[in-house]
Amino acid sequence: MTITLVGHGYVGLVSACVFADLGNTVYVIGRNEDKLLRLKSGDPIIYEPGLEELLKKNIAAGRLIFTSSYKEAIPASEIVMTGVGTPPTPTGEADLTSVLAVAEQIGQNLGNHFTVISCKSTVPVGTNRKIKEVLDRVKPAHATFEVASCPEFLREGSALNDTFRPDRIIIGSDSKEAIDLLLKLHEPIEGERVVVGLESAEIIKYASNSMLATKISFANLISFICEKTGADVEEVLDGVGLDKRIGRMFLYSGTGYGGSCFPKDVLALINTGTSMGVDMTMLKAVDDINKKAQTNFASIIQSSAPGKNIGVWGLAFKPNTDDIRFAPAINIIKILLEDGYTVTAYDPEGMDNTATVFGDRIRYAANPFEAAENKDALIIFTEWNEFKQIDLKKIKETMSSPFIFDGRNMYEPETMKQLGFTYYSIGRKNI
Ligand code: UGA
Repeated sequence: MTITLVGHGYVGLVSACVFADLGNTVYVIGRNEDKLLRLKSGDPIIYEPGLEELLKKNIAAGRLIFTSSYKEAIPASEIVMTGVGTPPTPTGEADLTSVLAVAEQIGQNLGNHFTVISCKSTVPVGTNRKIKEVLDRVKPAHATFEVASCPEFLREGSALNDTFRPDRIIIGSDSKEAIDLLLKLHEPIEGERVVVGLESAEIIKYASNSMLATKISFANLISFICEKTGADVEEVLDGVGLDKRIGRMFLYSGTGYGGSCFPKDVLALINTGTSMGVDMTMLKAVDDINKKAQTNFASIIQSSAPGKNIGVWGLAFKPNTDDIRFAPAINIIKILLEDGYTVTAYDPEGMDNTATVFGDRIRYAANPFEAAENKDALIIFTEWNEFKQIDLKKIKETMSSPFIFDGRNMYEPETMKQLGFTYYSIGRKNI
């Protein structure tokens, strides 16, 4: 098939590379010529394991074509997928400006044949019908099309595996022709097929992300109680998670969820529900607990660290990505800087992005050892593999005082005690 992906962020670029790798010809539309040049040269711009190799391979095979021209890509395509951003407005709604502007451009350039326009962006319920209205209004008279909602469930850091082997493929549409074409495109991809209506597909995406965020906030809520009672949250959640109806996945407490999805999607669903008169107290609490997980951690550092010269391990909102959007590390560093702390940070991938936020207000270390050296305390925000079995004896020897505040519960408190650290972790006995 020949298809188009509009947008080359995580969703657009990963989907484009995967569909190209399966033998399709894939146009990728972007609007920034510099970025398009980088993409054409095989630079994915974002850091995602395995993406650069897949990108280069499919460019070389002539199956990936980057362009800013809707005129070139749209008439050639049977399916047009959109993966452009829906950032939160100041009041928390999803901003649909890009989604609707892109729909207009697609509509104006539709070819003579039937085209499916499938939205992969996370959009509030009702948006695909708005897209259909835009397309109807601007399309050439002879063009025929149908819309579909195909939400994406890939996670940053494991995006390729999630796209080749998803748990499920959701296809929402009123049109059998559109559904059949999308089923055909997804044929080589694993995962249960779930064919639903447009509105259901849109809500499935928000409900899934909000459910996962709810599990995380629930884990954090339990950690607050554990901390006050001497219970160990890891033991508690192991015990809870073994119930197959609950499961342990996404039931890890820490400094809260970050990233470009959960924080914004929870707020957007609160907005959608509220605008329809639905009481959204439950999700408001999820958001509230997430903020508390961050401010509580900052307060513990402020009240217990023996000095204000600190090292930081991990800036990205999770491992295996350079993404720092809504990262707990960034929020908490801001609080600490305002309180006069000096911060030296290390992250294997996230330092360039962090420099765009803090510039020279913090220092950047070349490795984890340098970040910890001569510091009054070390703070851990992201559970990168390279921290898991690091030589903690060596770390302790170089620190001014052996204090570790671990926001991701990476180490055993007993081991840390034996090593001579004062070790604070989340929801466990602190020693
Ligand atoms: C999330 C969803 O997991 C994907 O299914 C979805 O497609 C994506 O959003 C999206 O809407 O585009 P992502 O934001 O990449 O994916 O990352 P997650 O692995 O879900 O982690 C989100 C945040 O939750 C991270 O800050 C992570 O550290 C935190 N988290 C995760 C916890 O604090 N505890 C956990 O148990 C799990």
